[in-house]
Amino acid sequence: MRRPLFSTLLPLLLLALMNLSKMIWAWTAPDCTIADSSLLPNLSYYIPFCSLAPGLHIFASCFNVKDLARTLTAVPRNIEALCLQGTVPILPDDAFGHFPSLKLLRLQLATISITSGTFQGLDQLQHLFFEHHAPCCQSLFLPPDALEPFRFLNSLSFQGYCLNNSQNIKLPKSLSHLILRHGCLTTLQELQELFPNLVPDSPPTASPKPWSSFLELMDLSANLQLNQVSVRALDGLQLHSLRLDDTPLNSLSLLDSGLLHLDSLSLVGTGIEKLPCNVTGHFELRALDLGRNQIQNVEHGDLSSCRSLELLSLHANGLQFLPTRFPSTLPQLQKLNLSTNKLGPTLVLPEGLVSSNLRVLDLSHNELCILPYGAFSSLPQLRELWLSGNNISNLSSGSLEGLKHLQTLDLSWNRIKMLNPGWLSSLPSLTSLNLLGTNLERISGRQLQGPQKLSHLQLGSPESLEIYPPWPPALLSLEIWTGYLTQFSISNEEPFLFLEYLTLQTTFMLLDPKNITVHFPSLRHLTLRGYSPYIFLSHQSQQFIPQFPLLEYLHFWSNHEGTEELHLYGMPRLRVLELGDMDFLGESRPVKLEVLLKELPQLQVLVLSNLGLRSLSISSFRSLGLLQLLLLNSEWAVELDSSLQELIPQLPQYVYFSDVNFSCQCESSWVGPWAIGAPNTFVYGLEKSICMANASDYSKTPLLSFLSGHCQYHPEFQGFLTSFILVLLLTILALLGCPKWPWLHHLRTFFHAWWWKLCGRGPRSQFLYDVFVSYCVQDQAWVLEKLVPTLEKPPPAGEGLRLCLPERDFGVGQDRMEAMTASMESSRATLCVLSCQALGSPWCNLELRLATYHLVAKPGITCLLLLFLEPIDPRQLRGYNRLTRWLQKEDYFYLPQGWVEWDAFCVRLRRRLKKAGQKRED
Ligand SMILES: *[C@@H]1O[C@H](CO)[C@@H](O)[C@H](O)[C@H]1NC(C)=O
Ligand SMILES: *[C@@H]1O[C@H](CO)[C@@H](O)[C@H](O)[C@H]1NC(C)=O
Ligand SMILES: *[C@@H]1O[C@H](CO)[C@@H](O)[C@H](O)[C@H]1NC(C)=O
Ligand SMILES: *[C@@H]1O[C@H](CO)[C@@H](O)[C@H](O)[C@H]1NC(C)=O
Ligand SMILES: *[C@@H]1O[C@H](CO)[C@@H](O)[C@H](O)[C@H]1NC(C)=O
Ligand SMILES: *[C@@H]1O[C@H](CO)[C@@H](O)[C@H](O)[C@H]1NC(C)=O
Ligand SMILES: *[C@@H]1O[C@H](CO)[C@@H](O)[C@H](O)[C@H]1NC(C)=O
Repeated sequence: MRRPLFSTLLPLLLLALMNLSKMIWAWTAPDCTIADSSLLPNLSYYIPFCSLAPGLHIFASCFNVKDLARTLTAVPRNIEALCLQGTVPILPDDAFGHFPSLKLLRLQLATISITSGTFQGLDQLQHLFFEHHAPCCQSLFLPPDALEPFRFLNSLSFQGYCLNNSQNIKLPKSLSHLILRHGCLTTLQELQELFPNLVPDSPPTASPKPWSSFLELMDLSANLQLNQVSVRALDGLQLHSLRLDDTPLNSLSLLDSGLLHLDSLSLVGTGIEKLPCNVTGHFELRALDLGRNQIQNVEHGDLSSCRSLELLSLHANGLQFLPTRFPSTLPQLQKLNLSTNKLGPTLVLPEGLVSSNLRVLDLSHNELCILPYGAFSSLPQLRELWLSGNNISNLSSGSLEGLKHLQTLDLSWNRIKMLNPGWLSSLPSLTSLNLLGTNLERISGRQLQGPQKLSHLQLGSPESLEIYPPWPPALLSLEIWTGYLTQFSISNEEPFLFLEYLTLQTTFMLLDPKNITVHFPSLRHLTLRGYSPYIFLSHQSQQFIPQFPLLEYLHFWSNHEGTEELHLYGMPRLRVLELGDMDFLGESRPVKLEVLLKELPQLQVLVLSNLGLRSLSISSFRSLGLLQLLLLNSEWAVELDSSLQELIPQLPQYVYFSDVNFSCQCESSWVGPWAIGAPNTFVYGLEKSICMANASDYSKTPLLSFLSGHCQYHPEFQGFLTSFILVLLLTILALLGCPKWPWLHHLRTFFHAWWWKLCGRGPRSQFLYDVFVSYCVQDQAWVLEKLVPTLEKPPPAGEGLRLCLPERDFGVGQDRMEAMTASMESSRATLCVLSCQALGSPWCNLELRLATYHLVAKPGITCLLLLFLEPIDPRQLRGYNRLTRWLQKEDYFYLPQGWVEWDAFCVRLRRRLKKAGQKRED
């Protein structure tokens, strides 16, 4: 009789196990990166994801998508942006209905066809992109009403697609950006067939009407066959901006297209040789971008019809000089971009600019050597002057004469060796000065005197730079790059009172005098690169940077030196810490991560890159209660200690491994099930990680396949099964009255509780519930009618316990797994009602497994009670026990219905629960 019982039980258990692994799978996103870029703006440096739109942060980026439905089940519903790359031939109806808050959708799915209902439910969507990056072009079919669900669609983009199978697509009214790049348009007429409502049915009544911004931008760049504009192809269309870069279209043909309004035209790389002034005059263009063309000469005659221009770019045209009356014929011109031409070596700007409105002038990369006296004196309104990448070596105050409104001056990457005192004296409004990549060897604050409001300063030199006071008083941001040595002379008054951003890239740094202390009372962002960790030396008297009361962001990439002395003190507000290129295993004393991190209570983002960290254990993270994002990059032979399992319920929400390889060891075997089933954590990069058996193992074994092949894959569950069986055995023994065991368990539990307290992990004091009750549907009637009323009955008749019942207390639509974990966490005790049927239910098993898990992870502060409703004969089963180590005799309740005194049972149960409550509370 016993054997049949076992043989029915076992298949049930196996079935439960299979069901479980299926359910767990749903919590991971195997080929997706799920991230929140508001935590770490620079996240894309470490893990690849598609570009987002400003203001969108929570996104999923999925690769190699083949089965769309399967991929999407793993993606959380609240994402704002979704990028899919792979091959999916058809996007079915309601493909994205699960993501009502989606604002951006980027599809790189090769040849696709779309149905009318594909985008159903996406009424919040603002950006829709179809992209294909291989050589032109893939075909894409879009039914006429495909875009109808969109009410707020702002930009629609097709790149690398031919739409010539589609017709009559209705564009949403809200659209403002339409992009068809790298396509196979041959004539503009095709646009009308594709999008009949692009151009209005009846042309709007003639001009003066303020133009309605139906389309802000139409970008038709890189349609290599687009060379025809049939007459009235764009009849009545009003555009702000049109881009025809790299197309063979003759811009003159736009004149007959019927285009009603255009402000800005871009014709980059179209091979034109003359200013297209007829078009400019026709539309009264305000902006014209003619970059990468062959306009080597601007003839004066050309210009007369260009009078409306406010912005003109002649970037990279091989221009050698400008006609003498150039700017005066363009009275509206505010921004002139002449970068990457051949205007050097002596700058000769045309005369007669006195009345000019010019605000921005870009003369970068023009081989300029000499800026003659008063070169810019005729540009009194100039706000920005860009002179980067020239050959300027000698600057006198005369060269910049007359620029009294100039705010931004970029002189980076010139051959400046010397700055005369007073060279900035004619620039009283200057706020931003860039001197990166110069040949300066010393600079004194005296050379920067003149502008009162200088707030952004960049200094750099290939070798070394000595910097002397006084510092400009109002600095907000300071950036210094030297190849070798930076030497600061500091006077005692506090020079950096307002500084918020500091970037320092150097190999050595000297302070003069050595014993000075520099204060940065307002610093928020600190970036250090290439420098040795000794900068944070705390034990010596020479402290460079002692206190950062407001520092929120520290990015420190060192020079591969040991970090023995690195201490991060005095940064109570630090939120983001990026550490890179250090040697944590240093020759003398290896550094402990926990020591480094212990005084950073506010840390939310921790990025560790190339530090030679060999092992991570729970102690490293103990003090980081607020951590939300953990990123490991370029680490080698990492061991993930089994103690980390304990952290699982509190692990940061985002855990990323990029270019990390592990050591092949079964200590980490918990990682597999965790990465796949992490209920509250998005894990990225473990599937791709490899592991190494030893230093010379180049076999590139994938970590997860090593773990599943060599280690027990579900150790806890197996542990549970075996323990469960032994629990039953023990129950039998207890019933037989074996007196030998209980005191031993008592002692163990006591010891563990004591140990945990010693380690400073006290129990949480706030509990929502007294008891989380786990039971299966078949036992529900008994639980609801008998058990619950008894336990919930208010005093004095009962204990008035607060119970949590999944069926009753979980919110509608709440993720059951999450709710379960959370409820167990916030209950003093978990009571599992067990019967043969419960053992057959995957949910009951899962609940019991979680409870067991909590028990093992936090011995002494977790309470698990087992209530058996039926006799289950365990004697045929073998195995060892884990549960018995933690449970005491009084934790088992054996209650075949009607078998013992109900009242006595209740008294015992209440007493036990009360005791559990007291224990968790102290
Ligand atoms: C991002 O991080 C990389 C590496 O640290 C750095 O080179 C780059 O400048 C950063 N970019 C931004 C925008 O911060
Ligand atoms: C669409 O355009 C491509 C490229 O011009 C061409 O090869 C293809 O035959 C066209 N398809 C249809 C249906 O017109
Ligand atoms: C451009 O305009 C000028 C006068 O404004 C006219 O003489 C010339 O024919 C026009 N060129 C074309 C190609 O329309
Ligand atoms: C000038 O044009 C080039 C090329 O388009 C661009 O990179 C540069 O930023 C422009 N300069 C300014 C000041 O906008
Ligand atoms: C500018 O400097 C570069 C680098 O030394 C040199 O090759 C180039 O000939 C110089 N150009 C002029 C116009 O002097
Ligand atoms: C610097 O330029 C000025 C004219 O702008 C010239 O008088 C002076 O000799 C030059 N100095 C050097 C060292 O080239
Ligand atoms: C730094 O050292 C100099 C002498 O070496 C001494 O005069 C000065 O008081 C010291 N300053 C501080 C702040 O300790």
